Amino acid sequence: MAEIQSVAVIGAGTMGNGLAQSCAMAGLTVGLVDTEERFLQRGLDNVRTSLARFVRSQKLSQEQADASFARIHPSTALAEAVANVDIVIEVVPELMELKQAVFRQLAKAVKPGTVMATNTSQLSITAIASAVDRPEDVIGTHFFNPVVLMRLVEIVRGLRTSEHALEAALELTRRLGKEAAICKRDTVGFITTRAIVALRLECMRMYEEGIASIEDIDHAMRLGFNHPMGPFELNDFNGLDVGLNNALSLRDAYGERFSPPQSLVTRVKAGMLGRKSGAGWYDYSDAKTKLEH
Ligand SMILES: NC(=O)c1ccc[n+]([C@@H]2O[C@H](COP(=O)([O-])OP(=O)(O)OC[C@H]3O[C@@H](n4cnc5c(N)ncnc54)[C@H](O)[C@@H]3O)[C@@H](O)[C@H]2O)c1
Repeated sequence: MAEIQSVAVIGAGTMGNGLAQSCAMAGLTVGLVDTEERFLQRGLDNVRTSLARFVRSQKLSQEQADASFARIHPSTALAEAVANVDIVIEVVPELMELKQAVFRQLAKAVKPGTVMATNTSQLSITAIASAVDRPEDVIGTHFFNPVVLMRLVEIVRGLRTSEHALEAALELTRRLGKEAAICKRDTVGFITTRAIVALRLECMRMYEEGIASIEDIDHAMRLGFNHPMGPFELNDFNGLDVGLNNALSLRDAYGERFSPPQSLVTRVKAGMLGRKSGAGWYDYSDAKTKLEH
């Protein structure tokens, strides 16, 4: 397939601005789309801060950082921004109806045959693709946070995804200097969410059974398995509400083994959602301290 030179990223939030930056650092021309100027500005501010960090750690020269930033073209006009690009990646919030609405807009505006990827972490690719009349061009490209540092792209085939779309997703992955793991069937949780949630829920059950403290379980997983963060720390980083939603949809698909433990449900009810709310499994109001209830 032809080399990918340009991309449109739809959504300038946490993942969207990281993805736009990764693409720009790889030399691609990037259209970055959001619904309002202020969301674009917030995304660009994050890119600027992150590029400055690359310069400080001497991974990029100032010239390379400036050139990368200049390759990102912000826009609130979706149809215009996607009209001539080689591939589109949707990174709007994890809501099926919103994603389907965006895909309907995309399918009308891109060149025929342009691959349209979604960064969903758990929604069905097949269901997202059902919103458009060319489901063969839709594929899942699940990037990880922070995109500029994380090397994996989990590529997920929908029921009707074409070989061409798979090749384009692999080519994009290669172009960004990342590596792919292919999920051959569009199933709830794909590979990574299903595996990490199973591990995390078992750790929560161990804590509830009084077998070990939150800190010791995190310590064991970091040192014993070289995980950069323990399961509780990672859950605090990603949000306990996000973790609970993941568990509930996995339970619907695979049964009681994914049933969320009470310690998780209660914390979410109390608004203890992790770092973003100041407390979750740990307390972040001051320095990080353990919180066990
Ligand atoms: N945050 C993570 O750690 C993470 C990791 C992997 C995958 N994901 C997935 O990536 C996607 C985006 O997550 P996020 O954390 O970046 O969300 P976010 O809320 O930080 O950003 C979403 C952005 O999309 C914009 N948006 C909303 N509707 C839009 C529209 N119609 N057109 C254009 N832009 C629109 C919002 O204004 C916002 O800036 C979700 O599907 C999520 O599940 C997130």
